[in-house]
Amino acid sequence: MVDICTTKGDNMSKKGGKKVLGIVGSPHLEGNTDRLVAAVLKGAEEAGAETEKIILNTLEISPCQACNTCHKTGRCVQEDDMLTVLDKMERSHVWVLGTPVYWWGPSAQFKAFLDRWYGVDRAVFKDKSAVIVITLGGSESYAKYTVGILTSVLPYLNIEHIGTVLAPGGIPGTPHILEKAFHVGLESIERR
Ligand SMILES: Cc1cc2nc3c(=O)[nH]c(=O)nc-3n(C[C@H](O)[C@H](O)[C@H](O)COP(=O)(O)O)c2cc1C
Repeated sequence: MVDICTTKGDNMSKKGGKKVLGIVGSPHLEGNTDRLVAAVLKGAEEAGAETEKIILNTLEISPCQACNTCHKTGRCVQEDDMLTVLDKMERSHVWVLGTPVYWWGPSAQFKAFLDRWYGVDRAVFKDKSAVIVITLGGSESYAKYTVGILTSVLPYLNIEHIGTVLAPGGIPGTPHILEKAFHVGLESIERR
């Protein structure tokens, strides 16, 4: 198990306020997903939130083994970095879930992370809200399954879906997307 990776944007230790956890599913540091998640966090900080960003690619999160032990115990048998991530998720009010589109779906890093939500103690999901951030090289239609997965999982787990930041063609292909991401972050805190 490695130390959890937080970035320079780690601001979670500040006292008081809402906590927002950014989760980056792309291996590209400073790539489109990373920058858009950071922009949402910046908006949330502007509204007074404490923020933290984690990069899934730097963590050890093994794929679900479908042993179903978690359904009996509420805990995964795999003792890897997902334990720390779930703890951070439980202590946050808003999650910013960021992934690039890989072959119409989320990245492998993000899917492994999402699969590990299976059977997790529902206390982790209680009173949570989420912003979805999806980047892709092509046009919007390539995002339909990734959008579909996330917009299905959130209501299934009673997680409020605050909004989606969708960047077809990445940041260069989507005018004003960084500003939009900032405003979604701002609103994610101001509306609570
Ligand atoms: C393995 C792989 C598969 C990809 N599949 C798609 C795809 O199906 N549709 C698409 O529009 N872009 C696809 N892309 C392009 C990425 O979604 C795009 O470059 C994205 O902006 C990368 O985000 P990042 O800068 O955060 O890594 C793929 C890229 C990779 C590496």
